[in-house]
Amino acid sequence: AARGALVGKKALITAGPTVEPLDPVRFFSNYSSGKMGYALAAAAREAGAEVTLVSGPVSLDAPAGVTRIEVKSAEEMKNTVLVHLPDADVIIKAAAVADYRPKHVFKQKMKKSADELTIVLEKTEDIALEVGRRKRPDQLLVGFAAETEEMERHALSKLERKGMDLIVANDVSKPGAGFGSDTNIVSVYDREGLVISLPRMNKIEVARQIIALIGERLDEH
Ligand code: PMT
Repeated sequence: AARGALVGKKALITAGPTVEPLDPVRFFSNYSSGKMGYALAAAAREAGAEVTLVSGPVSLDAPAGVTRIEVKSAEEMKNTVLVHLPDADVIIKAAAVADYRPKHVFKQKMKKSADELTIVLEKTEDIALEVGRRKRPDQLLVGFAAETEEMERHALSKLERKGMDLIVANDVSKPGAGFGSDTNIVSVYDREGLVISLPRMNKIEVARQIIALIGERLDEH
C-alpha cells in the first residue's frame, strides 16, 4: 500500500544502539538489534524515498539502495543526524540512544582491585529534542518510545516535550515487542492522541504501516 508514497522524499532514519566507551575494551550499551530501524529504512526505500540510515553497531546488512552511515556513540549519532537534518523531509528516530555515558573514559584498561567500583555517568544530549528544536515546519519528526509501564502517558509526554509530530510507542514488557525480536507491538500517537494500535506483527509489516502513515502526513504538510 505504501509503494510510491514517498517518491521524491528524503528520509533520515536512525537505528540500533549506541555504544559508550568506558575504557579501551569495555562499554555501556543496550539490547537494540537495529531490526526496527532497518525495517523502516527498507520500507521507506520501497515507498520510493531516498534513505539515509544512521546506524549504531549492529550485525545487519544495509537494505538495498539505502545509504548507511555507521556511528558508535550518542555524540557521533547526534553530529551525523544534525549534518543531514536540513536535507530531510522526514526524520525517524528508531535508535535506542544511551541517556548516560561514563563521565571519564579511561585511556588504559581498568585494573581489578577494590571489591566495589563506582562509575560516574553523565547525561548525553537528547538528539530528538535537538532535532525537534531545529526542524522546519515542512519537516516531519517521528520518534519512538520504549516503555515498560503507562505507555500512553509517557509517549504523549515525550511527543510534546521533544516537538515530535508522531510517536511510535512499543510496550517492551510484552513478549514479541521491542528490543531484539523479529516482531513488534506498537501504538502510534500524534498531538491529538491515538492514531492507530497494531497487533503483534513482523517489524517489516509494522514499518510499512508507519511509512504509509508518514506518506499521508507529508501530503497534508
Ligand atoms: O532495534 P530493535 O532490536 O529492533 O528494537 C527496536 C527498539 C525497541 C529499539 C525501537 O522500536 C525503539 O523503541 N527505539 C527507541 C528506544 C528508545 O530509546 O526510546 P526512549 O523512550 O528512551 O527515547 C525516546 C525517543 O528519543 C527515541 O526516538 C530516541 O531515539 C530518542 N532519544 C533518546 C535519548 C537520546 N539521548 N536521544 C534521542 O534522540
